[in-house]
Amino acid sequence: MSYQRSLVWLFVLLMQTDLSALGQISCGSNGNYSSNSAYSANLNTTLSSLATNIGNDGFYNASAGQGPDRVNAITLCIGDVQLSDCRECVQRAGAELMDSCPVQKQALSWDDNCTLRYSNATVYGTLVTAPAYGVVNTQNVTSPERFREALTELLVDLQGRAAGGSFPRKVAAGYTTGPDYQTIFSMAQCTPDLTSEDCSSCLGGAISEIPICCDGRRGGRVRRPSCYLRFESIPFYNESRLRELEFVPPPPLTQSSPPSGKKNSSMTQTIVIIVVAIVVCLILLVVAAIIFLRKRKKQKPTEIPETIDGISSAESLQHAFSTIKAATNDFSDHNKLGQGGFGTVYKGKLPNGQEIAVKRLSKNSGQGDIEFKNEVLLLAKLQHRNLVRLLGFALEGMEKLLVYEFVQNASLDNFIFDSIKHSDLDWDRRYKIIGGIARGILYLHEDSRHKIIHRDLKASNILLDREMGPKIADFGMARLFGQDETQGNTSRVVGTYGYMPPEYLIHGQFSIKSDVYSFGVLVLEIISGRKNNGFRSGDGSVGDLISFAWESWQEGRGGEVVDPFLRSGSGSTNEMLRCIHIGLLCVQENAADRPTMASVVLMLSSFSMTLNIPSEPAFYSTVGYKSEQSHSSSPNQASITDLQPR
Ligand SMILES: *[C@@H]1O[C@H](CO)[C@@H](O)[C@H](O)[C@H]1NC(C)=O
Ligand SMILES: *[C@@H]1O[C@H](CO)[C@@H](O)[C@H](O)[C@H]1NC(C)=O
Ligand SMILES: *[C@@H]1O[C@H](CO)[C@@H](O)[C@H](O)[C@H]1NC(C)=O
Ligand SMILES: *[C@@H]1O[C@H](CO)[C@@H](O)[C@H](O)[C@H]1NC(C)=O
Ligand SMILES: *[C@@H]1O[C@H](CO)[C@@H](O)[C@H](O)[C@H]1NC(C)=O
Ligand SMILES: *[C@@H]1O[C@H](CO)[C@@H](O)[C@H](O)[C@H]1NC(C)=O
Ligand SMILES: *[C@@H]1O[C@H](CO)[C@@H](O)[C@H](O)[C@H]1NC(C)=O
Repeated sequence: MSYQRSLVWLFVLLMQTDLSALGQISCGSNGNYSSNSAYSANLNTTLSSLATNIGNDGFYNASAGQGPDRVNAITLCIGDVQLSDCRECVQRAGAELMDSCPVQKQALSWDDNCTLRYSNATVYGTLVTAPAYGVVNTQNVTSPERFREALTELLVDLQGRAAGGSFPRKVAAGYTTGPDYQTIFSMAQCTPDLTSEDCSSCLGGAISEIPICCDGRRGGRVRRPSCYLRFESIPFYNESRLRELEFVPPPPLTQSSPPSGKKNSSMTQTIVIIVVAIVVCLILLVVAAIIFLRKRKKQKPTEIPETIDGISSAESLQHAFSTIKAATNDFSDHNKLGQGGFGTVYKGKLPNGQEIAVKRLSKNSGQGDIEFKNEVLLLAKLQHRNLVRLLGFALEGMEKLLVYEFVQNASLDNFIFDSIKHSDLDWDRRYKIIGGIARGILYLHEDSRHKIIHRDLKASNILLDREMGPKIADFGMARLFGQDETQGNTSRVVGTYGYMPPEYLIHGQFSIKSDVYSFGVLVLEIISGRKNNGFRSGDGSVGDLISFAWESWQEGRGGEVVDPFLRSGSGSTNEMLRCIHIGLLCVQENAADRPTMASVVLMLSSFSMTLNIPSEPAFYSTVGYKSEQSHSSSPNQASITDLQPR
């Protein structure tokens, strides 16, 4: 197929937030038709049938007429688009094509949400790779080499999965972790009429064009008539829509290990994964057999949570109580890691040498069977590098145990609030921790199958792994939300004072914006190294960190909020100030004013994005801080001036 435009590449540079004007039209050059001809009428019939007949799967082909007057059209919506938006797109694209290519027999439109093309030649099942259309995000990545490696690995994986899909499911989406804990999201799609080979070849071509259009950039998309490819550093596709359409499978029980960045080790890794998988299967079989035999003996079998949505049966996660008891040395004090809201956490070691953390729920914890099952099933489904992984559970009588992966370094509060250990976390690390926590919460709020509100985000619930990467722990209070529920009410206010927003404390209302509030407090604590609770300002008066940060910020002295250890370090002062700004946006009194976690992640990653001016935070009291200003005689005055916002 040939098109009038000799240009093969049309580049559109745009910022992530500016998604307008993405449409692109290309008129064919293989012949013209006249108005009032049979071709014109057939074209009209064909185009008007597309939008009304296209179904949920977003693909439709139609033809009208015979012989030389035959018109063939094909249209495909981007995989995660809602049906109504898809229809609207197809309708609009058809009208625009008639407008822009009034005489050409062949034409192609790439609209935001759909591709539409028609011709007098056969289009169904025909691979068309030119022209191509590239859109690139102008932001640069920090480590291009490693980014490219991770991205290519992801794209090749998606290429295989999309090509392997059966009609109409030639779509794949997924993510991987690139350099600096940056998550790379991507989606690949072919028109489903293509064979696997054609789809693979179309996407392969698109992948090879990424270095031409988008090398070193944080995001980009390549559109060809027969396929589509996009990657971004933010979650741009609607995973629940893709799942709803069964375009992507439900999340696997075990997350594939993130790319190591070392190519030659990936083979060994694969082998290790396969071996581990086989061993795990064998163990599960044995455990299942034991459980089965026990059940037959016992009159009243232990109640086991049911499968929810076919994701995972809690049964497969169950461990024998005795095994876990032995692993923790009979819950010895020596193995005690800490005391959480609903029980004690112990370190343990399974017979196979694997280190685990076991949460033994207190018998009078108030956490009933329902909450327990919730936590088990929720956590089993949640797979994200910034969430502590649940490995299983054990039940015996009144005893309830949760088995988690063991996270190497203790919780965040042990570092940031410690006068010695705080120096283990320089600005670079803290910035990554803030980003990781944000992505973890975003996953809970938007990417997991169910909208989940954590409700007890605080420094002691953030664990640090070997590389000081953050992992969010303790979902004891998380509530399983239906897809459309965004807000709930509770009569039992649980949580931690200092992290709870006013609407929750006062009215018991919680929403994703409650977590955003807690996140804002966390950010301010991480930057300042000071607790919001029992905060003491310079002159010893007790108040709260939020009011102090707000006041300092308002008066252009944001630098005073920063941990003195960081002020003397090499960290970017602009980044610190920007984070304080973001923190203040999150703790605003009015929940509706607080940003969503998606915008927070965007703000953290996109430096060029201008931030709103925060309004007054909740619980802001001027008491106690006026005096601090008059006493402001900090020894770090000189470096503070460097931190003035611009
Ligand atoms: C399409 O139309 C062009 C120009 O009228 C003609 O040359 C070509 O043979 C047609 N193709 C088909 C498959 O009918
Ligand atoms: C078809 O129409 C276009 C636009 O009017 C014109 O530029 C082109 O020369 C025509 N092609 C043929 C084969 O007549
Ligand atoms: C088809 O023709 C009808 C009547 O001429 C017109 O109203 C309609 O807009 C046309 N449809 C398209 C898709 O152009
Ligand atoms: C779409 O194309 C296929 C293959 O040519 C054909 O069997 C089918 O009838 C077409 N669908 C419509 C609605 O024309
Ligand atoms: C594209 O589809 C998405 C998701 O269905 C929708 O939110 C968006 O508004 C659509 N864009 C346009 C330009 O219609
Ligand atoms: C990205 O890098 C390119 C070339 O290295 C440079 O021209 C461009 O200005 C950079 N863009 C941004 C947003 O920093
Ligand atoms: C994502 O898809 C789900 C399921 O179709 C839908 O309910 C939700 O509104 C979509 N979200 C966005 C942001 O389009």
